[in-house]
Parts: sequence; C-alpha cells; structure tokens
Amino acid sequence: MRKPYIVGNWKMNLDIQQGVELAAGLTFSEYNSDAVDVAIAPSFVSLAPINYYLNDNNSTVALAAQNVSEHEEGAFTGEVSVSMLKSAGVSTIIVGHSERRAIYNEDDEAINKKLRIALSNGFEVILCVGETLFQRDADAAYDVVLSQIALGLNDVPIDKIERVTVAYEPVWAIGTGKTATPADAQKMHAAIREKLKSLYGPVMAGKIRILYGGSVKPQNIKGLMNQPDVDGALVGGASLKYEDFLSIINYND
Ligand code: PGA
Repeated sequence: MRKPYIVGNWKMNLDIQQGVELAAGLTFSEYNSDAVDVAIAPSFVSLAPINYYLNDNNSTVALAAQNVSEHEEGAFTGEVSVSMLKSAGVSTIIVGHSERRAIYNEDDEAINKKLRIALSNGFEVILCVGETLFQRDADAAYDVVLSQIALGLNDVPIDKIERVTVAYEPVWAIGTGKTATPADAQKMHAAIREKLKSLYGPVMAGKIRILYGGSVKPQNIKGLMNQPDVDGALVGGASLKYEDFLSIINYND
C-alpha cells in the first residue's frame, strides 16, 4: 500500500514570518501522520527558520525545496546547492516543475542532473512532469509525459528509485482553476506506472507514489484520491491557505 502524500508548493509566496506561521499552524493541526505524509516547500530563505520551528516542535511536516543546483559547489551566482539544503534541514527536493521548465528553460537533461545529485546526497525527490495544452490538443500528452519520465530518470539505479515520487501536473491545469477530471488523471497516472514498470519492474513500480497537481482544492481532492493510481497531491495556491490545505490533507474525513 502506498501511503498518501500531500505536498504544498508555496512557490514565490510568503515571507519568512508568514511561512513560519503557516508551518506552525500545520504542526499543531489535527491530521493523522500515520495515515498521510505531509510536506511543505517554502522559498529558499524560509527553509532554515521553518526547519528550526519544525524541529523544536517535533513536527511531522517534512521540509522540501522547490529547486536545487545541478552543481556541487562553486562559481554559480544565485544558485543553491544540495549541501546548503541539507544544512537547512531539507529532506526532499522538487525538480522539473513546469515553471522551472517553461520560465527558466530547464530541459530534461538538467532536470535529470538535479535529480541525480539530490539522490546521491540522500534526498527524496519529487520529479514533476506534465504536458502543455498545445501538446494535449496535438494528442502528444502521453508521449511528452512518458518521455519526461524516461529522460528525468535516466541513469537512476533501482536502489535509488524508491526515494523518487512522481508528480503529474498538466501545465494547463496549474493555477488556472481547471483540473483534469479524476478519470483523466487516473489514465495518465496508470500510463506513468506502466512506464515505471518497464524501467524498474512491477514490484518497484507498485511502490512509487504518483501525485497529481494542478488546481487541487478541498472540493476536488477526494475524487482524485479515489483513483487507484493517484497517491497524493502537489498543491500550489490552495497550500497557502491554512484551512484549505488542512482540508486537503484531511480529505478522507
Ligand atoms: P496550483 O499549482 O495548485 O496553484 O495549480 C500546482 C503546482 O504548480 O504545483
């Protein structure tokens, strides 16, 4: 059984104080950490202060970074390395978010380097994949997503793959209020799992969590989570509002 996993991607929102307050709310909220894993991905500057807060209060909320440099260290002005993230208490790194792909021109090769450097340094990784509306309309959604999976996981050995979570986020559903129907999401998630089976075999593919992302809200989470291959959600906008995020975490109540 795959444990449900709800991740809040705060993107470039909330300053340090606002971030600590939201993390505090979640730490003292009522959710059953035996039934669901929860992580939050604040901005880089908020990671260390939020980590202090989470540690001091024995929080079950895990800390994720939204991005990482593909390099170990050196003259890369403005970049943040794996060892910096480790020292800030981060356990999980998101790579390949569609905003990184589209706005910062990160290609599959760069994303694969980030994913591998994160895995080599002991992190859990969330690999985001997803097609644009143009690609969906051109009937290319499956080719695009499955190729992002294959290239993103290039050279990732089976003993490391268990630390990878996949997030399927159709780009046309991100921040737009449009969500894929639960049936559409299930169809793509099942195709992703088939691809993982071909790469790592059925046992391992059955363990890897596949999250859905794109306008997830309290109103649509249940229908999505009812699908057999939807194991959780990567939540943007709704993760900034305490009540909304908590009701997504507690979708089963
Ligand atoms: P959204 O963002 O929930 O605001 O659509 C999801 C994401 O980009 O991870």
